[in-house]
Amino acid sequence: MSHRCSCGILYATHVPAFGTGYFKGTMPKIILDTDPGVDDTLALLLALTSPDIEIVGITTVAGNAPIDLTTANALRLLEAMDISTIPVARGAERPLVRQPSPALQIHGSDGLGESGLPGPDRLSPVASGAPEFIKALVRDHPYADIDLVAVGPLTNVATTFLAAPDVATRLRSVVIMGGAFALTPHGHGNVTPVSEFNVWADPEAADIVFRSGASITAVGLDVTTSPGAILTSDLHETLAASTHPAARLTARVTRLGLSRRGQVQLHDPLALAAVVRPDIIETRDFPVEVVLSEGTTRGQTIADQRPRPEGEDAPTTISIATSVADPGFRDLLVGRLTGAPGR
Ligand code: BDR
Ligand code: CA
Repeated sequence: MSHRCSCGILYATHVPAFGTGYFKGTMPKIILDTDPGVDDTLALLLALTSPDIEIVGITTVAGNAPIDLTTANALRLLEAMDISTIPVARGAERPLVRQPSPALQIHGSDGLGESGLPGPDRLSPVASGAPEFIKALVRDHPYADIDLVAVGPLTNVATTFLAAPDVATRLRSVVIMGGAFALTPHGHGNVTPVSEFNVWADPEAADIVFRSGASITAVGLDVTTSPGAILTSDLHETLAASTHPAARLTARVTRLGLSRRGQVQLHDPLALAAVVRPDIIETRDFPVEVVLSEGTTRGQTIADQRPRPEGEDAPTTISIATSVADPGFRDLLVGRLTGAPGR
């Protein structure tokens, strides 16, 4: 079964996941906005191996690596998984206001942990850019159940919402990996003492998205750097020993990070897992302010925990992840990536 949206893209409405082959037409659908990226790779692979969701499109953004590389990497990963039915749209080459700040020192010069993945040889991006692509998919999709999972800087999402504000509320939800909200002992920054990379890289975009009226869940460092969201060498051994292509690819791209730092933080796959299995995280709702000024606090995400005076208008809030099921999340991730039944 296929559907042609007004942007002219013919895309499959069901993409069999590995180990399945059944119709996915009524499954929840996601658009994955990503900057692959080692942990972005794991988010993509978790989505591809999850029979209970369907990726209807991938959009790329400059973040961990320049846009040419993140786009090529998204295509490379699909080719490595032998998937050609998911359209990839190239997105922003730079943040709304700032200069790009790639993180190749973390993700390797290829953005994929020096894994030497070949290609892309067969796939190329669709003609429309990411904002046009997202708008068309959301407005024209025959279902009203699309979640936008954004695991890079929020440039594409903000640009889409500025051009088409209705898209923010037509989406069922926007789940982001981003922010450090000081709600747990782990909720401190990873670029500055208080700022997380995705929000720090394009704080103006994050500010626009947080004010857009979309139903937002932020999976931030408060949970993604907690012990329940760490890939350790024992889990790496399990993945490397598997015959499943997703597990082997995961083992390949995470090898460098493990050897350099002894662990890989599972930021982006946790955001994806929160869509696959919402009870993997607990959340609390707060109004959030993004700091836009230069300096140490640029990109800080401040959750306002003050009680509201009675009678005051309720402020706009977003849901912020405050805990992760342990070992539930890592069991889900490793189970899906290795094709274990029932996970
Ligand atoms: C986020 O920044 C990137 O380096 C990762 O891919 C993740 O999306 C963590 O701060
Ligand atoms: Ca990312």
